[in-house]
Amino acid sequence: MNFNLSKYLTDKQNLVNQYLKLILHQYDNRHELIMAMEHSLMAGGKRLRPILAMAAAQACGKDFLIALPACCAIEMVHTYSLIHDDLPAMDNDDLRRGLPTCHKKFSEATAILAGDALLTHAFNIISDPQQIFNIYPGYKTRIKLISKLSKAAGIQGMVQGQMLDMQSFQLKQDNDIDHLKNIHALKTGQMITLSVEAGAISVGSDLRTIDKLIVYADKIGLAFQVMDDILNIEGDPSIMGKAAGSDILNDKMTFPAIIGLEASKQYAKKLIDSALESIDELDEKAIPLRAIAHYIINRDH
Ligand code: IPE
Ligand code: IPE
Ligand code: MG
Ligand code: MG
Repeated sequence: MNFNLSKYLTDKQNLVNQYLKLILHQYDNRHELIMAMEHSLMAGGKRLRPILAMAAAQACGKDFLIALPACCAIEMVHTYSLIHDDLPAMDNDDLRRGLPTCHKKFSEATAILAGDALLTHAFNIISDPQQIFNIYPGYKTRIKLISKLSKAAGIQGMVQGQMLDMQSFQLKQDNDIDHLKNIHALKTGQMITLSVEAGAISVGSDLRTIDKLIVYADKIGLAFQVMDDILNIEGDPSIMGKAAGSDILNDKMTFPAIIGLEASKQYAKKLIDSALESIDELDEKAIPLRAIAHYIINRDH
């Protein structure tokens, strides 16, 4: 079967964008807070995490539309993490998703609050999806999603990963690859695995399938961050919509910094191969997940 990945990605991006807009348009968009949230949220991210959630729901043989509330919440949490990641106190970046970063366009205080608002509102969207969505998971499933998302984004997930990342330049002399894998797994991997899991949970998948999907997601999540490290060296800022070269400038501990560029590329490829192996048993329903795995190491932004 000929699968058109670029059409798949565009269709799913459009769908998520449509609902993210509906979420924001419930509020008066003349308010600076809403303007700042919209600036970053609608700037044109790849929507990889929501797409993974929908592809996972499909791999379970179910209607991916049920996963949409989780998809929107995940993208809101992800966007908040980017706004805060770019702040002067963190990576101090000026460009994100092809636009000035939130604190450059507005102010540091507004960017902090826009991030806070995206994070908190994400949980409102999963818990009360009926405001926006016609089809959504039952309340027990919603509680499970809230529990999983809050864990992946928090002190055992993304925020802890960001903390370790901020401290990593002090540890670089250790050249500790396991420590680096742990940082990547926390700061990026957890939210990617959660995205796949949330798709499966939203549609009530069985535990055996979820277990396979988690193995797949852990591998592609690490490969995704290794590629982000590689693109920070080799990527074209005008295509990526964000700066290149900042990891070296900030003396960040990254895969290329520790094992070199070529070995990092080989490692990412190996991870994708073993991700594909873990979903071998799933039939043609997992075609989108397989295509996304290839895309992760072949992307240019
Ligand atoms: C960037 O994430 C930050 C990382 C976790 C590596 P993405 O590369 O998914 O960024 P967007 O959402 O497409 O802007
Ligand atoms: C960002 O990691 C990860 C999160 C926002 C959780 P990076 O700092 O490495 O990503 P970019 O390169 O700024 O997108
Ligand atoms: Mg960072
Ligand atoms: Mg950054």
